[in-house]
Amino acid sequence: MIMDNLIEIKNMKYQYHKDKKLFEKFSLQLDCKRTTVITGNNASGKTTLSKLIMGILKPLEGDIILFGDNSKNMTLSEIGQGIGYVFQYPERQLFTTSVIDELTFAEILKGEKKEAVMEKAEEMIELFALEKARDVYPFFLSYGEKKRLAIASALMSNPKYLILDEPTASLDKDKIINLSMILNKLEEKNVGKLIITHDKNFIKEHGERVIHLDGGRIVKDEAN
Ligand SMILES: Nc1ncnc2c1ncn2[C@@H]1O[C@H](COP(=O)(O)OP(=O)(O)O)[C@@H](O)[C@H]1O
Ligand SMILES: [Mg+2]
Repeated sequence: MIMDNLIEIKNMKYQYHKDKKLFEKFSLQLDCKRTTVITGNNASGKTTLSKLIMGILKPLEGDIILFGDNSKNMTLSEIGQGIGYVFQYPERQLFTTSVIDELTFAEILKGEKKEAVMEKAEEMIELFALEKARDVYPFFLSYGEKKRLAIASALMSNPKYLILDEPTASLDKDKIINLSMILNKLEEKNVGKLIITHDKNFIKEHGERVIHLDGGRIVKDEAN
């Protein structure tokens, strides 16, 4: 397998408190080809693992190699270029006063050409059915719209990989079907996915590889 298709976690240690172990000599390889699901009980370390991959938390020992580069030597924004991240609670990542600004501000701030950014944003608005919300203050969107906006924003930098933390939490059935359709479309766009979820149907539908985490350890890793 080619290195730049991989996220490699090697002998990682991480814990929040020194008397409460979480990840110890933890190793895992994720590839862009197969959609991977991470599941497991509450407090098994799923969210922590995703934050470690994103560089929001730093390993105490070991390395995380993102498509050939050690995350130790990368800034948060460099990591975010390669990997989009959707938090469990979308409101935590919405900052601006309209949907269109939300989609464009980070890329424009980075110095990308405004025209190209606007074009991409309009494409996202269509893909995520946010036409009616284009000029709405994100705070006033429905939960499902916020979630779609959060995913759309994460995709604006054309990441190779997308990590979603509990994407179906508090979505009703229709919204989950809609989300599934969007995730399937990403397959066509060659965006690799890591989905953290408890949702059995969602696991069945998307989990080409399913990893069960318990107390910071992989207890099952199976192909579906
Ligand atoms: N910010 C934090 N400070 C201290 N402990 C935390 C923090 N976040 C999570 N933990 C603890 O780390 C463990 C793993 O949590 P988490 O990664 O959120 O699990 P999951 O997402 O699987 O529910 C739990 O015991 C949790 O209480
Ligand atoms: Mg969690």
